[in-house]
This record gives sequence, C-alpha cells and structure tokens, in this order.
Amino acid sequence: MSASLANKLITVTGAASGIGLSTARLLARRGALLSLADYNKSKLSQAHEELVSVSSSQKILSTTLDIRNTQSVNDWIASTTQHFSRPLDGCANIAGFHPLWSPKSVEEVTDEEFEECININTLGLFKCLRAQLAPGIISPNGGGIVNVGSVSGLIGFAGDSAYVASKHAAHGLTKCASKEAGKRGIRVNAVAPGQTNTPMVQAMAAEKGVLPTPPVSLQREGQPEEIAEAIVWLLGEESRYVTGSIYRVDGGMLD
Ligand SMILES: NC(=O)c1ccc[n+]([C@@H]2O[C@H](COP(=O)([O-])OP(=O)(O)OC[C@H]3O[C@@H](n4cnc5c(N)ncnc54)[C@H](O)[C@@H]3O)[C@@H](O)[C@H]2O)c1
Repeated sequence: MSASLANKLITVTGAASGIGLSTARLLARRGALLSLADYNKSKLSQAHEELVSVSSSQKILSTTLDIRNTQSVNDWIASTTQHFSRPLDGCANIAGFHPLWSPKSVEEVTDEEFEECININTLGLFKCLRAQLAPGIISPNGGGIVNVGSVSGLIGFAGDSAYVASKHAAHGLTKCASKEAGKRGIRVNAVAPGQTNTPMVQAMAAEKGVLPTPPVSLQREGQPEEIAEAIVWLLGEESRYVTGSIYRVDGGMLD
C-alpha cells in the first residue's frame, strides 16, 4: 500500500457519491487530510460521517457548494488552506453531471440543456482549477491535480452532444493547465472513465431502462473503486513523471 499520501492535503469535488465518494474513501484509508465538496448537502453529510469514522474529525473538512458559483469555489479553497494551516498537495476534481433526458440529436438540444452540461462539467471545472492554481494555494513543493473527464471526451456519441462537448473541453483544460503549471512542479492529469456503476448511471438506467453492457474488452461496466484507484495513483508520488495525460479507465472500450 502506498504511504505517499499520508497527511497530504487533498481536495475532492463530487465527494458525496459514486467515483468521488470512492476516491475520498481510498484517500482517507491512505491517511490523507481531506477537504470534500459537493452540492448534495444530505449525501455529503452522510459521506462525512462515514469518513470521519474511518479517519478522524481533524482530518476531514466538508463543504456544501455548487462548483458553478465562483465565489463559493474561491471561498472553499481559501478556507481549506486556512482550516488546515497549510497549502494543498492535491486536488481531485470529480463533480460532474450527465443529463437524464433521452438521446437528442444536435438540432433537438435546447440552449438550457447544452448549458447545464457545460456549466458544470466545463465551467465548474475551470473555476475549481483557477482557484487551485492561484499563487500560494498549492504547496511550493508541487502537487497533483486530477480531473475526471470521460471516454465521452475522446470520441463522439450520437445523441449526447452536450455531455460529449463538455468532456472534450475538460480534457482540453487539463492539457493547457499541465503545460502552464509544470514549471511549478504541479502535475495536471485527467482520468477518462468508461461506463461505471454509480448513482449517475443507475439514475440513467432507471430513466431509460436497462443500459446495454458497454462494448468493452472486459465485457462489464467499471466499479467506482476501480476509477478511484487510478485517480489516487495520479495524485501520488508514484506517478511523478506523468502530466498532461488523459488516462482511460474503460475496460478497453476504444481498442
Ligand atoms: N459513471 C460513469 O459511467 C461515468 C463515466 C465517465 C465519466 N464520469 C464522470 O465521473 C464523475 C463522477 O460521476 P459519478 O458517476 O460518480 O456520478 P454521481 O452522480 O454518482 O456523482 C457526482 C457527484 O457530483 C456532484 N455534483 C454534480 N454537480 C455538482 C455541482 N455543480 N457542484 C457540486 N457538486 C456537484 C453530485 O451531487 C454527485 O455527488 C463525473 O464527472 C462524471 O461525468 C462518470
């Protein structure tokens, strides 16, 4: 087991559910100090209770916020460094949104539908990155940022243009930030999951009926813990020469 994240200060968005919650659990088990954020207050509070029980209340700070709100994001990052009296060592930007509406071709998508994906998956991510990369926020010793994109940020899917566009942009942001921040010892990577068994996908299945098995080499969907393992590896010292990468964790979907 890796010890490199013990007592490192890591922020996690989307920590109340799915891949974010699995990542927070793994980081807590590795002894990290965690600043968790999510806009689902009740689920975040449940996650907080659970994580405090495996870690300690001194090591876990939880904040309800919407990553679309610039002031909330800036205040969260500032209050995290104040609360723990130290700069950040890493950030897992995982919060994201997939629409529940049925597949729609480009000519059928409304402004509001398109904007909802972009506002969370692209602009919200941008606001987190901007706050995290501001001078003095990440340790002068360097740090790791991991954004969660998607295989939808690598290829197109008919009927899913808003989400696909928002995730392509998330990958683009990752690559630009890695080029800018590398000289400060800050690595910026993305994980691109394939279909993963989380409440997001369960809600889509409830809305649309059983989702087909994804067309992947391993012939099953992923589990959130399997995506979390990749995120935590990219946050830690073991991946110290990796930056600007988009890591597919998709069971072999695009091969
Ligand atoms: N599950 C999949 O198949 C899959 C595949 C590829 C990529 N992803 C990406 O993985 C990430 C995590 O998704 P998941 O499947 O765990 O979904 P999830 O719905 O279980 O978890 C997402 C979390 O993000 C939070 N969130 C959403 N919008 C927010 C906002 N504006 N501000 C703050 N918190 C917000 C939600 O409340 C939720 O707790 C997302 O970025 C998603 O796009 C998921």
